[in-house]
Amino acid sequence: MSDHRHVDEFTGIETTGHEWDGIRELDNPLPRWWQWVFWACVVWSVGYWIVYPAWPLVSSHTKGVIGYSSRAEVAQEIKTATAGMADQLERVRKAPLEQIRTEASLREFSLAGGRSAFNVNCSQCHGSGAQGFKGFPNLNDDEWIWGGTIDAIFRTITHGIRNTEDENAHQSDMPAFGRDGILTKAEISDVAEYVLSLSGQAADSAAAARGKPLFTDNCTACHGDTGGGNAEFGAPALNNDIWLYGGDKQTLVETITNSRRGVMPAWGRHLDEATVKQLAIYVHSLGGGK
Ligand code: HEC
Ligand code: HEC
Repeated sequence: MSDHRHVDEFTGIETTGHEWDGIRELDNPLPRWWQWVFWACVVWSVGYWIVYPAWPLVSSHTKGVIGYSSRAEVAQEIKTATAGMADQLERVRKAPLEQIRTEASLREFSLAGGRSAFNVNCSQCHGSGAQGFKGFPNLNDDEWIWGGTIDAIFRTITHGIRNTEDENAHQSDMPAFGRDGILTKAEISDVAEYVLSLSGQAADSAAAARGKPLFTDNCTACHGDTGGGNAEFGAPALNNDIWLYGGDKQTLVETITNSRRGVMPAWGRHLDEATVKQLAIYVHSLGGGK
């Protein structure tokens, strides 16, 4: 650099030695204001490090003297959001189901709440998509054992089915026709053939013909004259291809011989009223709601 020392002849100020096509750069000191801003920044950042959490340490970080934490702010925000939700939940608790179903804001809120409550409480038995498993009904279809209106669904969820914890639970038991000696093995086989024919499956027609009067005498009271089912007794339809336990001959014989006894808890005893309502709205919305 010293080789290039050069003093500008007009201003008498030394140049930096940089030259572009004969234009030289004066080596003026930095402007005062700029230096002030620079030092102010330095002081401000040191202050910041002292006051706020700043430097990472091996397993934590410097905390800063005022102990500020964005976690505390998030916690406060969550608190505010929860308070807002409490208002909505209170509205859900007070509103009739039909209003929740039709009023857009309540409905949206309830569908979201119902979906998450379903995942927590119901999916282990009914499946995460409510598709059901053997013995645990699919809640997406149009087939309802205990009724598919929103009120019926609400009632089923609130009181449950064949449990001992709620006296208003749905109760209705199919007789164990074989175990209790009501029908013989041969008769059970015949009536099962008749159920196969009712549901449109291949059946031994002679056996089905023998089974028909047995069905009329023993089964229609609950399952209906043509096997259409009856929600009042929780008797599923037998004339379609939707089965709770199974529609093959062997499973039919097993069901008729020993009966079944699906049990569901009374959710009104485990969840608050607003959540049960949200669940009813959600289940009703799944596609098969009436
Ligand atoms: C422990 C297993 C279990 C859990 C958990 C469970 N259910 Fe069920 N649920 C059943 C069984 C079993 C049935 C069928 C009972 C029967 O055979 O009638 C049923 C039936 C139903 C029905 C009636 C379906 C129809 O066709 O009428 C509805 C609605 C229902 N459950 C909703 C729910 C909701 C909502 C939850 C979560 C809050 C839930 N269930 C949790 C076992 C369960
Ligand atoms: C007192 C009422 C009642 C009578 C009578 C009755 N059932 Fe049932 N049936 C039910 C109920 C309730 C269920 C559902 C059981 C459950 O959900 O666990 C059922 C379930 C069934 C199922 C299982 C359906 C499926 O989707 O898997 C079959 C099959 C069936 N019944 C056939 C018969 C036949 C055949 C007779 C006559 C011999 C008969 N039932 C008589 C009440 C009755």
